Amino acid sequence: MNESNISTEPIGQNLIKLISNLCFSVFVFSVLIFTVIAITYQPPDPWLESAPALTKLFTQTENATFKDDKSILKTGEDLPLVLGAAASPVSSITEAVIEKSEKEIKNLTVMAESECEDLKVVNCSDPRVLIAVERFNLKYFKSIVFLEYKTPVNGSKSNECDVAWRFRNKKEKSWRRYRDFRRFRFGIGENCTYKVVYASGWHSGVNARRMFRSRFNTTRSATIRDDEINDTIPTLGSEMNFRKGRYLYYSRGGDYCKGMNQYMWSFLCGLGEAMYLNRTFVMDLSVCLSATYNPSNKDEEGKDFRFYFDFEHLKEVASIVEEGEFLRDWKKWDRSHKRKVPTKKVVTHKVTPMQLRKDKSTIIWRQFDAPEPENYWYRVCEGQAAKYIQRPWHALWKSKRLMNIVTEISGKLDWDFDAVHVVRGEKAQNKELWPHLDSDTSPDALLAKLQGMVQPWRHLYIATNEPFYNYFDKLRSQYKVHLLDDYKELWSNTSEWYNETTSLNNGRPVEFDGYMRVAVDTEVFYRAKTRVETFYNLTKDCKDGVNTC
Ligand SMILES: *[C@@H]1O[C@H](CO)[C@@H](O)[C@H](O)[C@H]1NC(C)=O
Ligand SMILES: *[C@@H]1O[C@H](CO)[C@@H](O)[C@H](O)[C@H]1NC(C)=O
Ligand SMILES: *[C@@H]1O[C@H](CO)[C@@H](O)[C@H](O)[C@H]1NC(C)=O
Ligand SMILES: *[C@@H]1O[C@H](CO)[C@@H](O)[C@H](O)[C@H]1NC(C)=O
Ligand SMILES: *[C@@H]1O[C@H](CO)[C@@H](O)[C@H](O)[C@H]1NC(C)=O
Ligand SMILES: *[C@@H]1O[C@H](CO)[C@@H](O)[C@H](O)[C@H]1NC(C)=O
Ligand SMILES: *[C@@H]1O[C@H](CO)[C@@H](O)[C@H](O)[C@H]1NC(C)=O
Ligand SMILES: *[C@@H]1O[C@H](CO)[C@@H](O)[C@H](O)[C@H]1NC(C)=O
Ligand SMILES: *[C@@H]1O[C@H](CO)[C@@H](O)[C@H](O)[C@H]1NC(C)=O
Ligand SMILES: *[C@@H]1O[C@H](CO)[C@@H](O)[C@H](O)[C@H]1NC(C)=O
Ligand SMILES: *[C@@H]1O[C@H](CO)[C@@H](O)[C@H](O)[C@H]1NC(C)=O
Repeated sequence: MNESNISTEPIGQNLIKLISNLCFSVFVFSVLIFTVIAITYQPPDPWLESAPALTKLFTQTENATFKDDKSILKTGEDLPLVLGAAASPVSSITEAVIEKSEKEIKNLTVMAESECEDLKVVNCSDPRVLIAVERFNLKYFKSIVFLEYKTPVNGSKSNECDVAWRFRNKKEKSWRRYRDFRRFRFGIGENCTYKVVYASGWHSGVNARRMFRSRFNTTRSATIRDDEINDTIPTLGSEMNFRKGRYLYYSRGGDYCKGMNQYMWSFLCGLGEAMYLNRTFVMDLSVCLSATYNPSNKDEEGKDFRFYFDFEHLKEVASIVEEGEFLRDWKKWDRSHKRKVPTKKVVTHKVTPMQLRKDKSTIIWRQFDAPEPENYWYRVCEGQAAKYIQRPWHALWKSKRLMNIVTEISGKLDWDFDAVHVVRGEKAQNKELWPHLDSDTSPDALLAKLQGMVQPWRHLYIATNEPFYNYFDKLRSQYKVHLLDDYKELWSNTSEWYNETTSLNNGRPVEFDGYMRVAVDTEVFYRAKTRVETFYNLTKDCKDGVNTC
């Protein structure tokens, strides 16, 4: 349980639950009082938690205890341990590759070399134009890996060309590819080469944009969508296919509408059990986002898993079937056959995955009807089971649509920015647990502290849960300040994100909610060159309250 849940239920009922939960009564009680006081929406705090940190958090506390759930978790693509070994599926464009193609060109142009006459007019299809751009990019964008260039096309003036390429970010362990297209102006360099004399910003080479063709051979390549995403819901196909499968089906439990960390912790337990049993996991794509992350301050049902996570990647690495498809096929089979589908119902988490290993039923159906906290999915993975079931963290990546926003923001800053994470909100108001946080994150204190850590006039991205936009104005006297809300157009009703999430949501617009904000804020912060954290850099208060560090 978390404090947001507490605030929406009758207090008396909660007290009973609290008393039964020794470990965290003191902590929660203070937060409870606090949540009641704080009526207005407090955006969650963008704190980076790694999967190991979360594991520690959950396993050190009592079995069914959930503490502060307002943090954001690094998902699979951020975990070097899990994915570091994955080899690159594509080669990147390095200096060696450029030199090789340069040599080839030199051989071809030996005869035409009459004082470099041909360079006077910039011909965008000339391979030397591309070489100049490749060199330039390698030199200036050190944090990204260039994967593929498209042939440059004419820009708006005669000495300009627009160039498009795909790249990945070195900070991301996934091999997801992003695209950029920029406009370059050229001059004549030494030895019959071109050189870049001016480069425009992120996505400025609009003429090159259409160079991207979908890998799916569709005709909509010029639309404002990321054609690389294919997160359609897979179908099982024929009835026979359904009957041949082996499934693990978890019905909805007490985790529903709890915080996102509990969601991931529970979901990965179920998926981990399915993998252990070599079964297909039946997955409910409908997520309930807890009040903490909603501007409305209410739990909101009917959010799509794909708003937050990368379903395409999940489909590739795990065997899953969508719940609706599954139930339809199950019913269809039972209606048209005398012999029903063999199903094993499991009513308590106390039946371990090891006990189910030998079961041959087509469907193993875990039901979670017991009262809280006996109905949490993750309880299946406690105790002995923890030794057998590995949570497949590598299967869970953040949504590519959110990562496109992250890439857009850091690309607009040319990946050359510093960042500070400023935790305020409830923690700053709680003087008992965080006595200095409020004053240490006041505008004056921030300015004084940052001057020792970040050079003046650098681009400074501020990841924060402070809702008041102008709170950081004082820093503008020293830095070029950037806040998430400066990039509102990236999720406005004219954006790619809006277009894509709307069609995913059957034409209904999707709100850019608190969890998405935190996910993007955290990832942008993570891409900065110098990173200043609140705890340990700005204040001596401990992250989890007095005497916890
Ligand atoms: C260039 O031409 C020379 C001789 O004309 C040849 O030896 C060399 O292999 C060629 N290089 C490339 C990269 O084609
Ligand atoms: C530009 O370069 C390409 C490739 O080298 C060549 O085929 C084309 O004829 C050139 N165009 C002009 C106008 O020179
Ligand atoms: C590009 O510009 C050159 C001259 O600047 C022109 O000759 C050529 O036709 C243009 N190419 C395209 C595809 O418009
Ligand atoms: C130009 O060519 C000369 C002789 O081949 C070489 O010494 C010089 O380094 C070259 N300059 C560049 C910028 O490549
Ligand atoms: C895409 O279409 C082209 C020709 O239209 C065809 O040669 C190619 O194999 C197709 N690629 C895929 C992945 O279907
Ligand atoms: C998307 O992926 C599914 C498999 O998950 C595949 O059946 C489908 O053809 C793909 N769609 C496109 C447009 O390639
Ligand atoms: C799952 O499959 C693997 C390899 O195919 C096998 O080693 C393992 O014993 C299987 N587990 C179960 C529970 O059937
Ligand atoms: C956690 O659960 C396991 C098995 O369900 C039990 O053995 C253990 O005592 C529990 N730990 C606590 C602190 O309740
Ligand atoms: C987008 O939002 C603005 C204001 O928020 C509104 O005026 C406009 O009509 C909207 N456009 C579309 C296409 O929904
Ligand atoms: C998304 O954009 C495409 C092309 O710009 C348009 O045809 C489509 O209607 C848009 N979809 C939504 C849901 O706005
Ligand atoms: C923030 O604190 C950590 C741990 O003390 C330190 O390693 C890091 O260099 C500090 N960051 C800055 C920007 O000073």
